[in-house]
Amino acid sequence: MSKAIGGRDARAPNSTGARSAGVPPALFQTRITELFGIRLPVLAGGLQWLATPDYVAAAARAGICGFITAASHEDIADLRAAIRRCRELSEGKPFGVNVSMLPKLVQGERTQGIFDLIVEEGVRFVETSGRNPAPYLPALKAAGIKVVHKVPAVKYAIKAQAEGVDAVAVVGAECGGHPGMDMVGTMVQANVAAAKLSIPLLVGGGIGTGAHLVAALALGADGVVVGTRFLVAEEIWAHADYKRRLIEADETETTLILSSLRNTARVLRNEATATVQALESSGAGIEALMPHISGKVGREAYRTGDWSKAALSVGQSVAFADRIEPLAAIIARFEDEARAALARLKGLAR
Ligand SMILES: Cc1cc2nc3c(=O)[nH]c(=O)nc-3n(C[C@H](O)[C@H](O)[C@H](O)COP(=O)(O)O)c2cc1C
Repeated sequence: MSKAIGGRDARAPNSTGARSAGVPPALFQTRITELFGIRLPVLAGGLQWLATPDYVAAAARAGICGFITAASHEDIADLRAAIRRCRELSEGKPFGVNVSMLPKLVQGERTQGIFDLIVEEGVRFVETSGRNPAPYLPALKAAGIKVVHKVPAVKYAIKAQAEGVDAVAVVGAECGGHPGMDMVGTMVQANVAAAKLSIPLLVGGGIGTGAHLVAALALGADGVVVGTRFLVAEEIWAHADYKRRLIEADETETTLILSSLRNTARVLRNEATATVQALESSGAGIEALMPHISGKVGREAYRTGDWSKAALSVGQSVAFADRIEPLAAIIARFEDEARAALARLKGLAR
């Protein structure tokens, strides 16, 4: 039943010391490089509409792990085709599927159907978010699938660890998408999480350079999860006008919406988000907000490049999105920046 997908046999290049021509030796060996069999301890988190097979396979080929995002696919057949396409493009390297279980994105039977498909297709890695994945863990574990559960606060990570997930990703207030309701920054949250958890830990939210990766490792994490910084990758299909807007934007140009629904989202500040904020302050409910926040409106904005007309998830690390280039180039820069950060620390240490 389960077929080898995404490099079932892939070994961490770190462990073999593999050095193909022109590729420098891996910088880090952590519990995350080992768990995923990746070169750099970086996960490209799920991106609704944007984490397509092209993007996820580019991540795999560049030595990190990305996630085909189930919420981008209206039916199971479509998701199956995306998984198969990604397998073809990934050259045997690891990739996974993101299952966001936020009630409004993926519901009930559909969630079960998605996990059934993941098992059937022999996917090796799953990133869950939005809700406790406990009901689905026995079947995933029986299939040998590794689960990283992504949460916005340490208390949920502790719970997920007790339920038996393989790793947790804890994202702080800076993140694009859903930072939760407590809004603790990544710097504090990373260290608290490292002290309280024993399973492999990723931190995310505002990770935009290799120096952030080094900082996260110094704080006790085993790796990082990144969303925003990779949005300007060539393999992201969204219109170039949208990417150009991200390149222009600095760290002050995101805003928070939907706290009134207890579903806070960090998004690019624009006309649509100003409307949403005005509606929220006047006590409007979900029906009035939907025309501005629905996933379909967002997808249309990515297609047309008219970034002002929808609430689009973007985090503060948009500050570091400086050019459109292949994902592999962004990751190579990450690695160079991490090397430079390590050298700086070495120079400072006494
Ligand atoms: C455009 C966009 C779409 C996202 N969609 C999802 C999603 O569908 N599921 C999910 O679990 N996380 C989603 N995220 C969150 C990312 O996977 C990741 O956790 C987050 O972006 C990390 O913080 P950063 O944006 O500061 O790098 C999304 C983020 C962005 C920016």
